[in-house]
Amino acid sequence: MQHLRIKSLQEYQETYQKSIEQPEQFWDEVANNFVWRKPWDKTLEWDFAKPEVKWFKGGKLNITENCLDRHLEERADKTAIIFEPNNPNEAAQHITYKELHSRVCQFSNVLKANNVSKGDRVCIYMPMVPELAIATLACARIGAVHSVVFAGFSAKALASRINDSACKVLLTADGGFRGDKITPLKSIADEALQECPSIEKTIILNRTNLEVTLTENQVWWHEELEKVNDVFEAVEMDAEDMLFILYTSGSTGKPKGMVHTCGGYMVYTAYSFLNVFQYQENDVYWCTADIGWITGHSYIVYGPLLNGATTVLFEGVPSYPDFGRFWQVCEKHKVNQFYTAPTAIRALAKHPTSLVEKYDLSNLKTLGTVGEPINEEAWHWYDEHVGKMNCPIVDTWWQTETGGIMMSSLAGVTKDKPTFATLPLPGIQPILMGTEGIEIMEQVAKGRLAIKFPWPSIARTIYGDHERYKQVYFSTFKNMYFPGDGALRDEDGDYRITGRVDDVIIVSGHNLGTAPIENAINEHEQVVESAIVGFPHDIKGNALYAYVILYNDVLPSEFLKIEINQLISDKIGPIAKCDKIQFVSGLPKTRSGKIMRRILRKIAINELDNLGDVSTLLNPEVVEEIIKCRI
Ligand code: WTA
Repeated sequence: MQHLRIKSLQEYQETYQKSIEQPEQFWDEVANNFVWRKPWDKTLEWDFAKPEVKWFKGGKLNITENCLDRHLEERADKTAIIFEPNNPNEAAQHITYKELHSRVCQFSNVLKANNVSKGDRVCIYMPMVPELAIATLACARIGAVHSVVFAGFSAKALASRINDSACKVLLTADGGFRGDKITPLKSIADEALQECPSIEKTIILNRTNLEVTLTENQVWWHEELEKVNDVFEAVEMDAEDMLFILYTSGSTGKPKGMVHTCGGYMVYTAYSFLNVFQYQENDVYWCTADIGWITGHSYIVYGPLLNGATTVLFEGVPSYPDFGRFWQVCEKHKVNQFYTAPTAIRALAKHPTSLVEKYDLSNLKTLGTVGEPINEEAWHWYDEHVGKMNCPIVDTWWQTETGGIMMSSLAGVTKDKPTFATLPLPGIQPILMGTEGIEIMEQVAKGRLAIKFPWPSIARTIYGDHERYKQVYFSTFKNMYFPGDGALRDEDGDYRITGRVDDVIIVSGHNLGTAPIENAINEHEQVVESAIVGFPHDIKGNALYAYVILYNDVLPSEFLKIEINQLISDKIGPIAKCDKIQFVSGLPKTRSGKIMRRILRKIAINELDNLGDVSTLLNPEVVEEIIKCRI
């Protein structure tokens, strides 16, 4: 793979040019660096109007042969995963490629013994431990579709994800360590399982020694392992067979199960990992995300392992036992590439820099960020205190839907620029669209972002709802993919992502749709209606502001606010709690009854002088009242 690494600006420019002029030939050449059981017949078939995208049609492969088997010749004893536990006093584990291969094969046998076969959906609700990565890979090896649900989600959120794709088996743990707390995963899962008829078996890892009782159809992970050996031939998959489903929030209704397929996802995550981070053979790479999010899928598990890299898997949180933990781990494992989120950087920057300076960070070569726009201050703090002005920062823009990094500088190869994602990766064709739905041709401009050509790791559909996939991503602009983000382009052609242009709010790097949170609030028996908007927050990037209408005879109280947040926590998870809740007598609405969020947003950020014309509202008088009582 190393020869696919772009090493100079000129090489980037030439490669990019080629990738646009001859995309099929370009991706053919990249894809030729993998192990295919049978080569593909056709590189690309696409129609954004349908929408339909197929890469490497007819090709047969198993992604785990590319992540594991093929490394055994040269890298059997190389460390694949460094596991750093939550508790700094618990020993780290170094898992070699050979051992990882063996453990994945063994767990594939466990899945098989529990009646999982190709095409079945398996839900994984686990803490950040090696078994999570192993289970994910074992699903891929057996041809089952993994659906990893972040272990911070509530029972209700877990249940709705299990049911949406009718998962057959659930993999979970007794509990998960996070800082000084233990999340009781098994009991949350049990609550979810009350309403999940499709689950036939639950396999439970003992991680925390919590006392749990197994009921019918629940088995211990370690006991299952004892029954099987570690020989398992990977199941042959079609390039376009489903590899996984991963849920992401939408601006309306239930979460969207984004479907990724085997061939294209493999090619793109491997290629982008290598080039963005400029990973070299003996580097140690660390991405602090959770495998429950796309960043963890693509850039903790698949991208690094496809490259035969050493990837750090961290169980804990940046604040435990103190706010120096990230840097202590960087020193301990001599991390070369470090990839985290702006919200984490902002949180760490609030603490004395002595917590960074205490540790030897001289091995760092590349820093990365992902998840939301990074503000200038956080960028410079990262650059100065962590990178010592000596490490390029890759600001990587992408989405659950895109599978891999779409725009970013390539570390040390193309120029980085504070707060700019900069340039598209080879094969990616971004453009800016104006309000009229026409491409903006001027170089320096601001607009909505669109992508006009497919790339190998684009999500192929929303599980069970292709029509929604079409509506959300392909109906805003004709024959283009619309990611829902705005951007500006400067005189160098560099892009800066300005944020969401729909009703998705990014809180601490997590995508939250307003609709599901409003639905949760509205379920409170004393609530008539509610509206959520985002407002800037020092650490979280955005926080949530809820405007809530109560029934006439109900008195507003602090207690009600707590109840509302508890409800949100139960329905979605603590990440979706509101920082501010204001009780109002009405919400500003258009004559057709649509809530004018634009006005509510302005009130939340105290930008009161340009609310626009409110006289056309159905109920203009309510605006005055809301302003008067704003929090
Ligand atoms: C936002 C995370 C600015 C964006 C990989 C996108 C970013 C959404 C960046 C996807 C970035 C992600 N700069 N904004 N570098 N990276 N975003 O699906 O709004 O969790 O649409 O995928 O995060 O979030 P998701």
